[in-house]
Amino acid sequence: MADNKKIIWITGASSGIGKALTFEFTRNNIFVIGTARRLELLNRIKKELGDCGNNFEPHLLDVTDYAAIDKFHKKILSNYQIVCLINNAGTTSFKKAIDDSIADIENILRVNLFGGIYTIKTVLPDMLERQSGTIINILSMVTQKVFTSSSAYTASKSGLMGYTKVLREEVRDKNIRIINVLPGATSTEIWSDEIRKKHNDSMMNADDIAKIVFRIFSEKSNMVVEDIILRPLKGDL
Ligand SMILES: NC(=O)c1ccc[n+]([C@@H]2O[C@H](COP(=O)([O-])OP(=O)(O)OC[C@H]3O[C@@H](n4cnc5c(N)ncnc54)[C@H](OP(=O)(O)O)[C@@H]3O)[C@@H](O)[C@H]2O)c1
Repeated sequence: MADNKKIIWITGASSGIGKALTFEFTRNNIFVIGTARRLELLNRIKKELGDCGNNFEPHLLDVTDYAAIDKFHKKILSNYQIVCLINNAGTTSFKKAIDDSIADIENILRVNLFGGIYTIKTVLPDMLERQSGTIINILSMVTQKVFTSSSAYTASKSGLMGYTKVLREEVRDKNIRIINVLPGATSTEIWSDEIRKKHNDSMMNADDIAKIVFRIFSEKSNMVVEDIILRPLKGDL
């Protein structure tokens, strides 16, 4: 296992922050396995990457499907050394608690909370055996401040934050870094076109988030950036 090719696995790589992360890491000569449900978008990204496309391997994967993740690990990931997992896949409804259906709530929790835990459980045994690895979770400002119309989303992101804070202490002496990134409003397709147009000047850019994440990942000293808040300079929406 030790000689296997080193890769990083980015979930939700088909758009927004995940796509920007894919560009940033592959351009810095790091091999990325990018997963999402929209394989056609992942394939398009591979083309858009040009020469750096050689550093990108797209795969169809729904993070809510643990059986599919387990199969993907056995067939694909186990051929590589996963030096870093970026738990980025995410979704929300932007509805008030009263308006969220049970299906809406379950979907948000399945993608953002269970999806994150499933992928962590998948990579953790190998990282523990190697006594090295990095798990980066793209959480949210909702873990720090109350935003209405995001109750299930807040529960999911706060849930993964709680899970990973405990995990961090359990693996600290195994040389595994747990890094939680807490962005505020970033202009991606998670938001409606209307909101993005209205707040275009104040929303953050996914490419800027990706650059910071790459810098944190690349830190080689005995220091780790554990939780990082990234907010629009002009404040929250
Ligand atoms: N934009 C913001 O303001 C903001 C702020 C804080 C945190 N975040 C977090 O940043 C992360 C990325 O979101 P984004 O803003 O870049 O939005 P986005 O463009 O909508 O990206 C969401 C990504 O998640 C993937 N995804 C959704 N459901 C999935 C599933 N069941 N299985 C696998 N992949 C799934 C999507 O891919 P497919 O649809 O192809 O599966 C897509 O690649 C999310 O965790 C989000 O909560 C965003």
